[in-house]
Amino acid sequence: MADTVVDRNDIRVPIELGDRRYDILIGSNLLARPSAWAGLPKASSAVIVSNTTVAALYASRLKAALAPLYPNLQVIELPDGEAHKDWATLNQILTHLLEAACDRKTVLFALGGGVVGDVTGFAAACYMRGVPFVQVPTTLLAQVDSSVGGKTAINHPLGKNMIGAFYQPLRVVADLDTLQSLPPRELVAGLAEVIKYGPIADETFLGWIEDHLGALLARDPAALAYAVQRSCEIKARIVGQDEREAGVRAHLNFGHTFGHAIETGLGHGEWLHGEAVGCGMVMAADLSARLGLLPVAQAERLTRLIHAAGLRLKGPSLGADRYLELMRHDKKSEGGEIRFVVIESLGRAAVRPAPDALVRQVIAAHTA
Ligand code: NAD
Ligand code: GLY
Repeated sequence: MADTVVDRNDIRVPIELGDRRYDILIGSNLLARPSAWAGLPKASSAVIVSNTTVAALYASRLKAALAPLYPNLQVIELPDGEAHKDWATLNQILTHLLEAACDRKTVLFALGGGVVGDVTGFAAACYMRGVPFVQVPTTLLAQVDSSVGGKTAINHPLGKNMIGAFYQPLRVVADLDTLQSLPPRELVAGLAEVIKYGPIADETFLGWIEDHLGALLARDPAALAYAVQRSCEIKARIVGQDEREAGVRAHLNFGHTFGHAIETGLGHGEWLHGEAVGCGMVMAADLSARLGLLPVAQAERLTRLIHAAGLRLKGPSLGADRYLELMRHDKKSEGGEIRFVVIESLGRAAVRPAPDALVRQVIAAHTA
């Protein structure tokens, strides 16, 4: 595909995956700008998949920008919320595509947060064995993480993201202006995934987040632009090395083993994903310290930042047995052995098993 056209002030982060390489475009007012959409494949039809909340805010802007490119342009509005990242919603999209006689060139545009992005990406992977799709993330979490790297999925009552596919988008268009309408709780949840990149890959970035936390919470455009850019650079590098998570990509799941247990244990949607990851990072950092890998002072530094961001430090009291049972379903588990992403020093991660007794200590120390 031809290089994406970008304006001078926009940020372009390439994600190098051979003939499936693509760009992440980051900038202001991208939704409305023709340059953000130039070079996408021609097709008679395209479908914007969004949810009721985001469609009301941004679908008409995107529709106006895409209308000159796609004569038959439709919008699907999904119900809002993590609880709807399920078979019924996937089926809603697929049924719409079939009823509208969409062909295999139809381009899907996922306009919304990680829920819309994950389920739309999975629908794109399934419909007619694969149609092109573009990620248009509108939450901080989606701009720094979920829209990038091709993981698509729906939840199952027995486990988070358990049904899905690796399926890369053609492009990611992250319009920073959309972050201004995000509810404060969602902004903070997104910060958890931004913070994650520090301990797993870049201590300097961790220091930058500490220094700019106030600006990020105040939604300063320059601070948000750099946070999204640096997060995407780190994720693009990791995914470029290990698209299918045979190794280093697992580091992106720091905090997620405990976090997914919280989400599934409480019922999907009770805690926000980023909130569960924030608390999960506190637990995983403590586990890293108890394993003798991470100096306690470094685990405490990370916990301080997570607290300062406004994230919860204590998980729900599901009971250690239930946490362990849920974590054995984690996709990193092998033969029933839970494998945790641990931090060896701030900026360097690894994947390790841990004795149940130590994990129980962590759960006891970090649940309410
Ligand atoms: P979300 O998609 O539920 O969005 C959060 C809320 O914000 C929703 O109510 C949404 O309607 C609303 N919203 C979205 N954009 C808005 C805007 N600009 N203004 C106002 N409201 C807006 O949640 P999320 O945090 O974006 O994503 C969480 C999901 O992402 C989880 O399902 C998680 O598993 C998944 N995820 C996937 C990956 C991946 O690699 N695929 C990585 C991380 C997380
Ligand atoms: N968010 C984890 C990953 O993309 O691998």
